Amino acid sequence: MQILTSRSQLKAWRDEHRQIVLVPTMGNLHAGHAALIEHAKSKQCPVVVSIFVNPTQFDDPDDLARYPRTFDQDCDYLRSLGVDAVFAPDTDLLYPEGTEDSLRIDVGSIAHRFEGAIRPGHFSGVASVVARLFLLVKPDYAVFGEKDYQQCRVIERLVQALSLPVALEYVETVREKSGLALSSRNRFLSTKARNTAPVLYQILKRAAAQLRQQQPVEAVLAESQQRLEQVGFDVDYFTYVDADTLEPSHLPLAHGRILAAARLGSVRLLDNHPV
Ligand code: PAF
Repeated sequence: MQILTSRSQLKAWRDEHRQIVLVPTMGNLHAGHAALIEHAKSKQCPVVVSIFVNPTQFDDPDDLARYPRTFDQDCDYLRSLGVDAVFAPDTDLLYPEGTEDSLRIDVGSIAHRFEGAIRPGHFSGVASVVARLFLLVKPDYAVFGEKDYQQCRVIERLVQALSLPVALEYVETVREKSGLALSSRNRFLSTKARNTAPVLYQILKRAAAQLRQQQPVEAVLAESQQRLEQVGFDVDYFTYVDADTLEPSHLPLAHGRILAAARLGSVRLLDNHPV
């Protein structure tokens, strides 16, 4: 496995291959990332995983500071998964103009609601770094996890709007046996919160079943939120949206999705479920 840290190393590696797959990450890798890599390998071309903790997508400096950085461990894990290359740029490579006053990409209203409303600027940071990665790495395919469902739709819009020549592929959320979606943030859950956290998925699954049975949307969402609050969650949103546009709906949809974000103590959990 090659570790590419400079523009010239990346270019030399890229030039050796006709087609490649990129899996963008911020490191601290777990089985959820392994599923993205397994999917990437199914494309039958070399796989490069980028590791970069992107400062412009953090609205809270403390959150950025405490984001786990586990580069050596991540490289061992990627080697064991048979990845061909790791792209580990420093901030100057990705943001030659600096991050303070950097060029940002705003993909529009789809990026301003839900996560975008709670973490202003978050998705312009994501769209900006993903565009920079795509332009540098020039992948034919890029793989993202459906756990960050809104992020997938934001990146889709970025690619469409700028006609970026990359095919996006999505991988279903990987869960613990309990149903809890894997996330780098789970390590911050207290023992008590760890026991409560799987309730989020249980309620999502139940709400999706109720919506499929044509139960009234508003009542299903209100009851779900109430149940979450009863077990100790602070709910940021629990909402039913069109799966493509992320427009909220109070009516049944042909292709809907429930999006949820809720806090247990200082840990925010994100999850979603198709309807
Ligand atoms: O999902 C992530 O890990 C990040 O948001 C991404 C896509 C790597 C951009 O920094």
